[in-house]
Amino acid sequence: MELEELPGVGATTASKLRDAGYKEMTSVAAASASELKDACGMGESAANRIILAAKESLDIRFRTGTEMLERRKLVKRISTGSTALNDLLGGGIETQAISEFYGEFGSGKTQIAHQAAVNVQLPEADGGLEKGVIFIDTENTFRPERIIQMAEGHGLDPETVLENIQVARAYNSADQILWAEKAAEMAQSGDVGLIIVDSLTAQFRADYTGRGMLADRQQKLNRHMHTIQRAGDLNNLAVIVTNQVMAKPDMFFGDPTVPIGGHIVGHTSTFRLYLRKSKGGKRVARLMDSPNLPDGEAIFMVTQEGIKD
Ligand code: GTP
Ligand code: MG
Repeated sequence: MELEELPGVGATTASKLRDAGYKEMTSVAAASASELKDACGMGESAANRIILAAKESLDIRFRTGTEMLERRKLVKRISTGSTALNDLLGGGIETQAISEFYGEFGSGKTQIAHQAAVNVQLPEADGGLEKGVIFIDTENTFRPERIIQMAEGHGLDPETVLENIQVARAYNSADQILWAEKAAEMAQSGDVGLIIVDSLTAQFRADYTGRGMLADRQQKLNRHMHTIQRAGDLNNLAVIVTNQVMAKPDMFFGDPTVPIGGHIVGHTSTFRLYLRKSKGGKRVARLMDSPNLPDGEAIFMVTQEGIKD
């Protein structure tokens, strides 16, 4: 269905919508009335009518608890490479969810992202989904050499593994937003099992500096996260985002660092894992937030062949 088929949307409004970034029915369906008002100058009730019609066209509606249970049964899990970390996650990295890995530099976020990009390609019996990956790289840290090592660690053909990873380099937050929308479109093919954004917040942090820009940053970040969340839901794929931490100056007890992005990132991520470095090259992952799993910790290692217990 085209945007022009929505009630009250003519060619002019449709092109205004597209110009404002609402290119797909899915993005209209997830918009708020005030966003559409700002984008096209339409009234609130017209905006609500359009949003509801867009939802209907995509069969987005109330579901019964039974239907939700059926959807939950479709959830699959990607192995992280570490049994302890998989157990902490209830079996691995879930589809239809955003898993956020945050922690200080060198804590293993990018390594986990690389490992998942390889493991998602494994057969289901070995902890994969036998599908490809989209990797949005915002810090220029994607390393094909590392993928080769990890692929060899599994006895996979490195060339095939690299071929199944689509990497886009995002040079700023606007770029990152565009790549995510493109990724959502690509995922409709059904060949994508995982979308990675490494790092979710770095470019937003660089582009929106100063207090006055915080509201704008959070609104953009919120919409960006919902784009990838929706791609995960609609296509039963997993989403991994990484996030840095910042020092919390007013904290005197406990861990003085908090993830970037505040409540927006915290509430949109389904699983939040806090990674930290430990003795002897060990890493500790702590599950901070999950809808249905107990909090806890897992210890893993980053080795030549990848993530291990
Ligand atoms: P930032 O992006 O800087 O915030 O950090 P990060 O959390 O993404 O860290 P990353 O995942 O890049 O972890 C880097 C660490 O992984 C290095 O300091 C090494 O300890 C380890 N590592 C990376 N490559 C290898 C490797 O080939 N072999 C081994 N044994 N360890 C590696
Ligand atoms: Mg990194």
